[in-house]
Amino acid sequence: MRNNMDQDILKVLYTEEEIHRRVQEMGDELFEQYQGRDPLFVGVLNGCFMFMADLVRASGLKSELEFIGLSSYRDATKSSGVVQITRDMQRDITGRELIIVEDILDSGNTLAFLTKYLMAKGAKSITIATLLDKPSRRQKAITADYVGFVVPDEFVVGYGLDYAQVYRNLPYIGVLKPTVYSK
Ligand code: IMP
Ligand code: MG
Repeated sequence: MRNNMDQDILKVLYTEEEIHRRVQEMGDELFEQYQGRDPLFVGVLNGCFMFMADLVRASGLKSELEFIGLSSYRDATKSSGVVQITRDMQRDITGRELIIVEDILDSGNTLAFLTKYLMAKGAKSITIATLLDKPSRRQKAITADYVGFVVPDEFVVGYGLDYAQVYRNLPYIGVLKPTVYSK
């Protein structure tokens, strides 16, 4: 392999091809649900960037895009539960049907905060599309409407997901070697 990140990966969970196929299926389902309507995709930065790009193309929906930057202060690989807005949306979402695009639903703290925030801003409806779901670690009663893959309780990186802001550009999703973050 060409890149020097592969050596930090314990095992590959989903290959580029598997991700591509699954995202296309999710896009097809979103098209079915939303065709003829006017949804607004809201991507959660930074983790969503690759999934968002592929999902909006896969859906083929005539739609607008927005991004919101959120940070749930993390101690190494665990969420603190405190969510902050690091970059707010640029347009009014009053009365809009939103499709939240997130990389991974883990403790649920991020999406619990975000759905409350978006409803308070006047959203008409919210659909959650998450690439990954780690239900074993949930602290908040949040479920996603569209889930790419259910993952085990391991720290995963790639295809947008990071460890300390690195590995986001891996084309596949893999489990990081624990030695990388226990160093
Ligand atoms: P939450 O715990 O559901 O609030 O998720 C918070 C954020 O933590 C997610 O949006 C991800 O950016 C990040 N996160 C959670 N689990 C993982 C993981 O296994 N790898 C990389 N990032 C993760
Ligand atoms: Mg994220």
